[in-house]
Amino acid sequence: MTVPVICIDGPNASGKGAVSRAVAERLGWHRLDSGVLYRGLGLAAARRSLAPTESARLARLAANLDLELRGDRVLLDGRDVTREVGTEEAGTGASRVAALAPVRAALLARQRGFRRHPGLVADGRDMGTVVFPDATWKVFLNASPEVRARRRYNQLRDQGMDVSLAGLFEAIRERDERDRTREAAPLRAAEGAFCLDTTHLGVEETLERVMEHVRTTGRPTPPASPGGPGGGSPRHTPSGDT
Ligand code: DC
Repeated sequence: MTVPVICIDGPNASGKGAVSRAVAERLGWHRLDSGVLYRGLGLAAARRSLAPTESARLARLAANLDLELRGDRVLLDGRDVTREVGTEEAGTGASRVAALAPVRAALLARQRGFRRHPGLVADGRDMGTVVFPDATWKVFLNASPEVRARRRYNQLRDQGMDVSLAGLFEAIRERDERDRTREAAPLRAAEGAFCLDTTHLGVEETLERVMEHVRTTGRPTPPASPGGPGGGSPRHTPSGDT
């Protein structure tokens, strides 16, 4: 039986992190925050003074990355880097190393390893297009750049970080541009994705719309043999686990 996957892609601060966490909690499924792998790699590279152009060395580092996700805590080389990894600087560093095709290839198997029973909610930029192309559900969230900058600003301020709204707006704009225009797995909605603009939606509302989408578009189960139990018109399974 294939393990069902819900992909939630989108740009920075589109709401995908909070929503994918909530969807995973509601379903009791595993969650992959793929951005944290790229953030951890960016941090590890900076510590080793690797330039974002050293593609082969970065790919080797990615393949051997000592990154452990313990609930919401992130350990890099055995050290807790949860706070560092959450900064906008770490996001920019992540976006730079993420533009390299060999780096992305080196992280592919690791990401796919998160696909375990009973299911996975995966968020990032290329979950639906590259990492889990066979996923049953592909969601793409977006919001206006102003609203995303404001969300990120509030989030970082809540964590006690000293950030400027104008600086964040610019950093997010640059990061979007890099993530969208790179050749390797650029940020874009997967074909047939359920696209949702969250500019005027809170996390709860977005969560409900995503859950509604999941409930109503489960993979149809093949009908049982004619005349046998469950025969007839296809059913929709909310878990998609057929
Ligand atoms: O989602 P995030 O802000 O934590 O991601 C940080 C950066 O990592 C993002 O700007 C681009 C990169 N990334 C990626 O290229 N592919 C992913 N699946 C997730 C993140």
